[in-house]
Amino acid sequence: MLHPLLLLLFFLINHFSCGGNARLIGCLESEREALTDFKKGLEDPENRLSSWKGSNCCEWRGIHCHNTTGAVLTVDLHNPHPQDPFGSPSRYGFWNLSGEISPSLKMLESLKHLDLSFNTFNGIPIPEFLGSLKNLQYLNLSHAGFSGRILPSLGNLSSLQFLDVSSNFISVDNLEWVTGIVSMEYLNMNGADLSMVGPDWIPKLNKLLFLTELHMSSCGLSGFIPSLTVVNFTSLSVVELDSNSFNSEIPNWLVNISSLEALSMSSCGLHGRIPLGFGELSRLKSIDLSLNENLTASCSQLFRAGWEKIEVISLASNKLHGKLPASFGNMTALTDFDLFDNNVKGGIPSSIDVDLSYNLFEGPIPFPIVDVELLDLSNNVFSGHIPKAIGETIPNMIFLSLSGNQLTGEIPASIGEILLLQVIDFSNNRLNGSIPPTIANCSFLKALDLSKNNLSGNIPSSLGQLSLLQTMHLSDNKLSGQLPQALQNLSSLETLDIGNNMLTGSIPPWIGKGFEHLRILRLRSNAFSGELPIMLSNLSSLHVLDLAENQLNGSIPASFGDFKAMAQVENTNRYLFYGKYRGLCGPPPIVSCPGDRDNERILEDDGGDNDFIDK
Ligand SMILES: *[C@@H]1O[C@H](CO)[C@@H](O)[C@H](O)[C@H]1NC(C)=O
Ligand SMILES: *[C@@H]1O[C@H](CO)[C@@H](O)[C@H](O)[C@H]1NC(C)=O
Ligand SMILES: *[C@@H]1O[C@H](CO)[C@@H](O)[C@H](O)[C@H]1NC(C)=O
Ligand SMILES: *[C@@H]1O[C@H](CO)[C@@H](O)[C@H](O)[C@H]1NC(C)=O
Ligand SMILES: *[C@@H]1O[C@H](CO)[C@@H](O)[C@H](O)[C@H]1NC(C)=O
Ligand SMILES: *[C@@H]1O[C@H](CO)[C@@H](O)[C@H](O)[C@H]1NC(C)=O
Ligand SMILES: *[C@@H]1O[C@H](CO)[C@@H](O)[C@H](O)[C@H]1NC(C)=O
Ligand SMILES: *[C@@H]1O[C@H](CO)[C@@H](O)[C@H](O)[C@H]1NC(C)=O
Ligand SMILES: *[C@@H]1O[C@H](CO)[C@@H](O)[C@H](O)[C@H]1NC(C)=O
Ligand SMILES: *[C@@H]1O[C@H](CO)[C@@H](O)[C@H](O)[C@H]1NC(C)=O
Ligand SMILES: *[C@@H]1O[C@H](CO)[C@@H](O)[C@H](O)[C@H]1NC(C)=O
Ligand SMILES: *[C@@H]1O[C@H](CO)[C@@H](O)[C@H](O)[C@H]1NC(C)=O
Repeated sequence: MLHPLLLLLFFLINHFSCGGNARLIGCLESEREALTDFKKGLEDPENRLSSWKGSNCCEWRGIHCHNTTGAVLTVDLHNPHPQDPFGSPSRYGFWNLSGEISPSLKMLESLKHLDLSFNTFNGIPIPEFLGSLKNLQYLNLSHAGFSGRILPSLGNLSSLQFLDVSSNFISVDNLEWVTGIVSMEYLNMNGADLSMVGPDWIPKLNKLLFLTELHMSSCGLSGFIPSLTVVNFTSLSVVELDSNSFNSEIPNWLVNISSLEALSMSSCGLHGRIPLGFGELSRLKSIDLSLNENLTASCSQLFRAGWEKIEVISLASNKLHGKLPASFGNMTALTDFDLFDNNVKGGIPSSIDVDLSYNLFEGPIPFPIVDVELLDLSNNVFSGHIPKAIGETIPNMIFLSLSGNQLTGEIPASIGEILLLQVIDFSNNRLNGSIPPTIANCSFLKALDLSKNNLSGNIPSSLGQLSLLQTMHLSDNKLSGQLPQALQNLSSLETLDIGNNMLTGSIPPWIGKGFEHLRILRLRSNAFSGELPIMLSNLSSLHVLDLAENQLNGSIPASFGDFKAMAQVENTNRYLFYGKYRGLCGPPPIVSCPGDRDNERILEDDGGDNDFIDK
């Protein structure tokens, strides 16, 4: 029997040696030398590796060692300050490493985790010797500036579970080597050129029994997606294959993967019917098959039952048809539903939100009972009035488009209670009455489009309070009276279109002042009279000035030669749009999309019906 004190001592010693750490053990000399060599090959302008000195390499930044043997297990030199490569260029690459990757890394025989992501190895190939790091479980070379072919030697990494080589400039001729990585759980090759691998890519991957995530977006994969007789990957939960150019139906085996949680195959050139079996995948949370153009499905069948956990359905820009069944209301987890640009019709259940634009929905507007931020019911055939109590129904809405329907009656004053609104688009309906002054309470408003209605009365001067407003379309109505002076406060304005109304009075000189962002000024077809104010030529950003069909007279001021912006050709429009293609460009508050249809017109300063004299 041991003395209790001895027992305690024994415990302490034991605790310290087993539970002790690499600080006490220290690092292996051969590994320290290997790391020192590795460091020598790197360019490290910000001196990230300043801690890489002294004898215990286990204490160096990014290095972790085994707590009893001291062997190096982890080399994590990912750049923690990555910047969006499409964002701020000046800060992108801050803290990056570049240079060479010394083969001395091979000496780290116990290495399990190697992360060099988000550095800038300017075009060097992925080193072949990495294939000899037999214990490697995690290899992350994402976004690190590698180029060239991936060599089959990586297939020797039979312990590898995570391989991320996304966003480099690499290509792969053949995927045979992948089948050697039998432990693979996560494979990300987004952006790699796989156009040479041929149709057997999927049978090859089907040998990876433990695969849970597959990411191969923008890989140049093409052609028919082969069928599989046996689906081997029974753990697969995330499949991301967007932006490839398959010319294929959706393969049936996809609906046999009962572990599937997220499937994304947008812009893939898929056609044929969407398999009904997706609804039966009880773990499926997100499905994105948008922009395939030629996928078909009957909504009443596809959404009849199932979809228990579904949160996101994006099927925009396809050929879906039919009605949404009543059971649709059972998809209680749904947060995002996008059927933009299909042929779906009928009344819609009242519990859902977002983008149902460009379909054939009819009847009164179904306002959601759930609190949504975005409602796009544009370009359907909704009729009737906008509910009086709209403000109480959707108090947290940010984006509201009812454009392109057959709505009648007045715009409810309660619109002003939706305080967070950034976009109101009621254009192209049959709304009448006057513009409610309460709209001015929506102080975050960036876009107001009431054009192509039957609105009458004055433009309320309260609109002058909308200091964030960028776009105001009030054209093609029956508005009358003068331009309220308060509008001169709209200093963010880029587009002011009040053409085709019955507005009178002179064109106020203040239009030339304070609107430094104004690009489009359209006053066409009103009853403005008098002379053109000289100050108009101060509008330095102006691209479109349309004053045709008014009763203006006098001379065109000589200073009109000064519009600087008009002389510049600009291909992209960053000002007119506020969500007509929102589904493709991201949620609000993004208010512009590259490549949008736009109204930019050439200078039309005199369409004819004014009375200018040449000077
Ligand atoms: C040492 O490593 C083992 C296995 O990796 C782990 O279970 C143990 O908690 C570690 N001990 C300490 C003190 O970190
Ligand atoms: C870091 O990235 C920036 C931007 O890509 C590049 O100009 C710079 O040369 C890189 N630094 C190193 C050490 O490679
Ligand atoms: C990979 O393994 C093959 C044989 O299995 C061997 O010939 C080759 O040298 C290995 N490559 C590396 C980089 O270890
Ligand atoms: C690889 O690194 C990047 C950036 O550091 C990270 O976003 C990504 O999730 C990593 N991949 C894996 C599989 O952990
Ligand atoms: C399924 O996996 C087994 C074991 O790796 C393999 O022998 C078989 O060929 C795989 N099936 C297919 C269809 O690839
Ligand atoms: C998919 O599942 C169906 C029925 O559940 C079965 O008949 C079919 O053989 C399966 N296909 C594959 C490729 O496993
Ligand atoms: C859809 O089908 C039409 C007609 O067959 C074809 O012209 C078009 O390219 C297809 N779209 C896509 C994205 O494959
Ligand atoms: C909704 O689900 C419940 C229970 O899951 C079911 O009883 C009901 O019939 C479903 N409603 C519709 C319209 O399918
Ligand atoms: C608006 O139109 C409705 C018919 O849709 C009509 O009853 C109402 O009087 C009109 N209101 C105004 C102010 O013109
Ligand atoms: C909305 O605006 C009107 C006047 O335009 C004002 O009387 C009213 O108090 C405002 N309501 C809120 C909630 O701000
Ligand atoms: C617009 O309103 C006028 C009456 O103010 C009415 O005569 C006309 O039919 C309406 N137009 C439309 C398109 O509703
Ligand atoms: C316009 O701005 C001025 C000063 O910024 C302010 O005094 C005035 O009340 C504003 N007018 C309107 C209608 O908001």
